[in-house]
Amino acid sequence: MTIERTLSIIKPDAVAKNVIGEIYDRFEKAGLRIVASRMEHLSAAKAGEFYAVHRERPFYNDLVAFMTSGPVMIQALEGEDAIAKNREVMGATNPADAAAGTIRADFAQTVDENAVHGSDGLDTARAEIEFFFGNDGVCPRTR
Ligand code: CMP
Repeated sequence: MTIERTLSIIKPDAVAKNVIGEIYDRFEKAGLRIVASRMEHLSAAKAGEFYAVHRERPFYNDLVAFMTSGPVMIQALEGEDAIAKNREVMGATNPADAAAGTIRADFAQTVDENAVHGSDGLDTARAEIEFFFGNDGVCPRTR
């Protein structure tokens, strides 16, 4: 078991449903601590840069349009095996495949509007946290 940090985004569909608190509750009940948090309405340039790895995929333009359609809630989560734990709590990318009781099964309907994003590995997590919170935007939990 290792203490990790991961980047999480509550996407515009879930923010619009007003379920930020319910999703935070699931993070906390899973043992994940919020160590940075900000609401932001992403520009197309910022959303496009964040998802640059998908630039060649057919869904890229729709993804950027969706991610800029309303504000998102961005957070860094910390805890034991935080990256895998967050992905477990989120459920599969496509809500149709997501296990019962996961965030995507409960709050999302389609793969395009799937409620949450979570980093998929250690290097990505580090880069994504720095992308949104810089080098000093995360607050260590001292107690
Ligand atoms: P996310 O984890 O934020 O990373 C990329 C996003 O692209 C993904 O969640 C989905 O919301 C979205 N997406 C849309 N279509 C697809 C697809 N066919 N495969 C994977 N991701 C997709």
